[in-house]
Amino acid sequence: ANDKGLIRDSWERLGKNKLPHGTVMFARLFELEPELLKLFHYNTAFSSVQECLSSPEFIDHISKVMLVIDAAVSHLDDLHCLVQYLVNLGRKHQAVGVKTQSFNAVGESLLYMLECSLGPGYSTELRDAWVTLYAIVVETMSSGWTE
Ligand code: HEM
Repeated sequence: ANDKGLIRDSWERLGKNKLPHGTVMFARLFELEPELLKLFHYNTAFSSVQECLSSPEFIDHISKVMLVIDAAVSHLDDLHCLVQYLVNLGRKHQAVGVKTQSFNAVGESLLYMLECSLGPGYSTELRDAWVTLYAIVVETMSSGWTE
């Protein structure tokens, strides 16, 4: 129950506009796994991280990711509502060439963003609460992968 409070409070503390935080998260992701840049090609491939981070389609993807996290934070008491959606979302990511292992780096990037954005408000308890929530989201998405 305390975990839920920590997650809700910290998510709220990021402010209404989550886009700048999502941008920090994805910039970090490309540092950790530069190859992921190749998976984002809207018509043409991006030649640099900067080009990717400033393209409208990619910015839309950042907003979509933040909305999924927002949905998880809003449904901490009934995450099962999101299962079907997340399985299907996983399936779509398999289709665009994402490997489930890459979600580890996404998780690291999420924690990095929270640490940057929350400063001294970032604690071990908070980190653990987010790790638990993120693991549920990713496990559910990963069940959408088929051989
Ligand atoms: C769609 C890539 C992680 C949420 C997409 C698309 C690509 C993509 C190429 C299709 C084009 C687009 O809609 O922009 C990736 C890669 C990821 C990643 C490479 C990291 C390894 C995530 C995560 C979430 C997410 C962590 C949310 C938790 C979405 C959503 C869509 C989407 C909501 C739209 C699906 C739809 O059209 O119904 N992703 N993604 N993505 N992604 Fe991701």
